[in-house]
Amino acid sequence: NPKTARTIADLRALVTAWKRDGLRVGFVPTMGALHDGHLALVRHAQSLSDKVVVSIFVNPMQFAPTEDLDRYPRREAEDIAKLAEVGCDLVYLPTPDIMYPANFVTRVHVDGPAQGLETDFRPQFFDGVATVVCKLFNQVMPDVAVFGEKDYQQLKVVQAFVRDLDLPVEVVGLPTVREMDGLALSSRNAYLKPEDRAQAIALYNALRHVRAAIVDGTDVAVAVTEATDNLTAAGFNKVDYIAVRHADTLGDPVDGEPQRILAAAWLGTTRLIDNIGV
Ligand code: PAJ
Repeated sequence: NPKTARTIADLRALVTAWKRDGLRVGFVPTMGALHDGHLALVRHAQSLSDKVVVSIFVNPMQFAPTEDLDRYPRREAEDIAKLAEVGCDLVYLPTPDIMYPANFVTRVHVDGPAQGLETDFRPQFFDGVATVVCKLFNQVMPDVAVFGEKDYQQLKVVQAFVRDLDLPVEVVGLPTVREMDGLALSSRNAYLKPEDRAQAIALYNALRHVRAAIVDGTDVAVAVTEATDNLTAAGFNKVDYIAVRHADTLGDPVDGEPQRILAAAWLGTTRLIDNIGV
């Protein structure tokens, strides 16, 4: 079974002992309700390091008051059992008061890749993510950290502040793990009713519709409109965005350079996001 640490002191004691032995430390931050996508990140971290730390912390700072902080799934015992199965070495389980004591006054704010897309709909989100991930990096002191491309804008935001703030950690992205039909695994899929689950695949199909237009050289704006209409026809009640961006900067796409198609849409009260490369 993995060791568990609930305080920064307990975490540091274990990690510093490993470092003293010259071991390379890998890290996978999560909010729990672990699925095979998270476990793929753990396995990839294992392939890049000697010891792997997984954190489970549902970070209040990245949720708006209207969002799903309270109903976000919490399954600590199940999560630890899954991590035991893949051979994770240490699970870090801080509490909100350890992460945000009463005198907490600092925020990590990123521009560039954090602008637009998610930020247009969740303005607080990337400040919350960047602040908590920066804290977790300083607490865990990993040599390498693995993030999913499922949250592509988040991956780019983390890479940006790690670069800008000279943090001594390598940030690695892993391709999205999908269900058989193509739906990206997500802790929030647990919210979907069976009838919604059948429709959810329309999000991935919408991304592929736009990619086909880019690859075929047909009108991309028309394809985005069609993809939006297809989502509505499939029962999505609101499309926050379907956008084509430069794969590295997330600015406007440049012909001949890697592009990324990103989307967010609502199925009932569940907000789903996904993205694919071109
Ligand atoms: P969470 O949604 O739990 O995701 C943790 C990590 O798992 C992220 O790097 C995410 O991109 C990755 N992930 C989720 N679904 C995936 C899938 N289907 N395939 C591959 N990777 C997947 O993202 C967060 O938590 C938080 O914002 C966090 C970074 C922990 C900061 O609070």
